[in-house]
Amino acid sequence: MALLPQRLSDGFVELRRCGFVDLESAVDAIHESWSELHHWLVSFQEEVTQDSYVRVIDDYVRGFDEDQDWSYFVVDQDDAALVGVANLYRLSGPERVAIGYWVRTSRTRRGYASRASRLLVDSAFSCLPMVNIVEIQMDVTNLASVRVAEKLGFRCVSEIKREIMAPGQSGRGFLWEMDRATWTSSNPAVPSILAD
Ligand SMILES: CC(C)(COP(=O)(O)OP(=O)(O)OC[C@H]1O[C@@H](n2cnc3c(N)ncnc32)[C@H](O)[C@@H]1OP(=O)(O)O)[C@@H](O)C(=O)NCCC(=O)NCCS
Repeated sequence: MALLPQRLSDGFVELRRCGFVDLESAVDAIHESWSELHHWLVSFQEEVTQDSYVRVIDDYVRGFDEDQDWSYFVVDQDDAALVGVANLYRLSGPERVAIGYWVRTSRTRRGYASRASRLLVDSAFSCLPMVNIVEIQMDVTNLASVRVAEKLGFRCVSEIKREIMAPGQSGRGFLWEMDRATWTSSNPAVPSILAD
């Protein structure tokens, strides 16, 4: 059984483990958001179709089953719309994981990325006992993503040189970190947000 739950919820957003049942809605959200996704993200540099996204979901399913990375569709619990993707993934050492996210363009600035990230940080520290640091990286010019890290209380620890792999990238990235002690002291465990 996977280390992280299939579903997470804070009552406003649900994170639902990525699977083929949501293929059509996910591709629809990607097509609507293409210019923003293509601008910022390495993984959206080639056209996405239902056929090509089947392979992405296939990787997500395998990653989740093998506890390598945990990818969720972000769903609005009010209208059941699929509004994005949030991923938690392992880094080279056992004590660090990282978070990634994107949100459908017509649904940005409503708190989805921050809420989804909060659920992932809670889950990382609750379900992965070896993890002590959760990190978020983004281009220095990606102000919306910077704001997500900031709102969650992450600390910007360095500015790093990065290869430019998408049109919006500047070649400089920020590394933001949250450690277990800081998170648990300011975010008391709420086991009810974790639902299988
Ligand atoms: C980054 C992204 C995931 C944010 O999603 P979201 O659901 O809108 O995020 P939230 O609503 O939780 O928070 C966004 C914050 O950024 C702020 N923001 C958005 N655009 C901004 C901008 N251009 N400049 C400054 N702040 C901005 C919002 O006002 C909000 O802050 P607030 O709550 O204090 O008002 C979304 O814009 C996106 O998918 N971008 C394309 C993909 C991407 O860049 N992914 C991240 C890669 S590291």
